[in-house]
Amino acid sequence: MKEDKITRENVRLFVMQFYAKVFKDEIVGPFFIAELGEDIESEHWVEHLEILVGFWTAIAFGTPKYTRQLFLPHTKLVNLKKETFERWLKLFDETQDEVYVEKIAEKFKERAHIIAGNFMRNLAIT
Ligand code: HEM
Repeated sequence: MKEDKITRENVRLFVMQFYAKVFKDEIVGPFFIAELGEDIESEHWVEHLEILVGFWTAIAFGTPKYTRQLFLPHTKLVNLKKETFERWLKLFDETQDEVYVEKIAEKFKERAHIIAGNFMRNLAIT
């Protein structure tokens, strides 16, 4: 059954489900593997996943506040293209629709699309 209320547990579930797709994806996967390595259970990956759980938890609840530099790590990624962002967003939207009822999923998707749009503008990706 789809979640009709946001909880810290289901935000974590969402992030894990999203990243299971990201990791296997032929377009976005390699960007993460280049930074974090091929073992999704490694310390670096676990740390990244925790950061992401923290990020989406902060978006959902406003607390604990997200205090890290969001944009900076993305400036290091070479060869990011429009199609990379499109695929990232497709996987994000798909996973939202799997985990949450429409009303909640649409809110998360809206935030992700706005942030991705800002990234693309800042990185001059057209
Ligand atoms: C083409 C799309 C994207 C790719 C390939 C990508 C890839 C990455 C990579 C490789 C990292 C660094 C991992 C590390 O070294 O620890 C990262 C960090 C992160 N990304 Fe993305 N990203 C994308 C889009 C987005 C979007 C649209 C968002 C938010 C809506 C986002 C949120 C984050 C966050 C919160 C971090 C952690 C930053 C930190 O370490 O403080 N990413 N991303």
